[in-house]
Parts: sequence; C-alpha cells; structure tokens
Amino acid sequence: MNCLEERILKDGIVKEGNVLKVDSFLNHQMDIDLFNEMGKEWKKRFEGANINKILTIEASGIGIACIAAQHFGVPVVFAKKSKSVNLEGEMYVAEVESFTHKCKNQVIVAKKFLNENDRVLIIDDFLANGCALQGLIQIVKSAGATVEGIGIAVEKGFQAGGRIIRNLGFQLESLAIVDDMDSKTGMIKFREEQ
Ligand code: G4P
Ligand code: NA
Ligand code: NA
Repeated sequence: MNCLEERILKDGIVKEGNVLKVDSFLNHQMDIDLFNEMGKEWKKRFEGANINKILTIEASGIGIACIAAQHFGVPVVFAKKSKSVNLEGEMYVAEVESFTHKCKNQVIVAKKFLNENDRVLIIDDFLANGCALQGLIQIVKSAGATVEGIGIAVEKGFQAGGRIIRNLGFQLESLAIVDDMDSKTGMIKFREEQ
C-alpha cells in the first residue's frame, strides 16, 4: 500500500452518493510532504517519458501538479474553467460536462502556452467519469501536442473514466484506485497492483 492509499484510509471520509472526502490533505488543506511523495512516484512511473510540460485544471489539480513538476523540472499550465466564452482564436476550448454538478463548462488554455512541440503529462486530483480529463486531452490534441501520460491521485474505479481512458491507449497512472466504498461502514477497497 502506498502513502496516498494509507492516508486515504486514515483521513478520507466516505460520503453518501459515492463521494470520497479528502479535503484534510488533498484538495482543500494540502499535505505538501504527501504531494512530494506522489510527485516522486509519478516520476518513477513515467521514467523514460520525454515530458516537457505538465497540464492540469483549476482548482484542485494545481497544487498537486506544481509539486509534481519539481520532480520533472518542467512548467505547469492549468486549464481555466469558464461558463461560456467566445475567445476563440487565442484559446484552445473544450466542452466539459460535469456529472457531479450537472452543468456544462468550457475549459480553456491560451494558445501561446501549448504547441505542437509539447510532450505533456496531464495531472489531476480525481478521475470519476473522466469528462474533465477528456477535455484536457482534446486541448492537447487541438494544440498538435502529445499526451505522454496521465497522472491521477484518486481514481474511482467503479466509475467509467479510468476504463475509457486506458482503452484509448493512454498510460494512466492513478496512485490510488478505489474499487469499492461504503458510506455506512466507512469501508474503502483499493485495487491491488497488477
Ligand atoms: P469527471 O471530471 O471525472 O467526469 O468527474 P465529475 O464531473 O463527476 O467530477 C466533478 C468534480 O468533482 C471534479 O472536480 C472532480 O475532481 C470531483 N470529484 C469527483 N468525484 C469526487 C469524489 O469522490 N470526491 C471529491 N472530493 N471530489 C470528487 P471539479 O469540481 O471539476 O474541480 P475542483 O475545482 O474541485 O478541482
Ligand atoms: Na479536479
Ligand atoms: Na475536485
């Protein structure tokens, strides 16, 4: 069991509606020593990958991506969320539907920060249905850049996102994959390493 999984068992709270609360260490208060271990682990898992940029999405991905970036020695670009803008021309724009919030958003990245020479590692805190991630992948493609890999902190393995992304052929490295959880008992079951 890795340190993120251990921390989830210690401080994660299973809420009703299949929500895992990790705000005491991951996405509200942030444990930087833990982020540093996560960055180290991604660096190991993506050894040999020729990554020159990390792409994440506001808000919760940013802190994790920044600490990870110190292990890769590359800059971080974060996609911005926006209700609906008409800034085409200078921006890459992707439509993202949120199942959790039941709304459509646009994610945008300025063209000047992503181009066809970029070899991108995408980082985010959660992978559920994968809509946000698909938006980020679409933006990388629009730029003519390459997705070298995807690093996720917590994947909810009982939702479809992880399977879809792996079936598309991406190297997806989730540090904790929750295959089952129960709000009544607090049970959390992780996927065993392959
Ligand atoms: P998807 O992007 O994988 O399709 O997921 P979904 O629309 O279901 O998720 C919407 C938001 O909820 C995302 O954050 C996602 O990270 C977060 N999320 C999904 N499942 C969980 C969970 O079990 N626990 C927690 N804590 N968060 C979860 P967001 O609202 O887009 O961004 P942010 O501003 O929080 O980064
Ligand atoms: Na997120
Ligand atoms: Na989030």
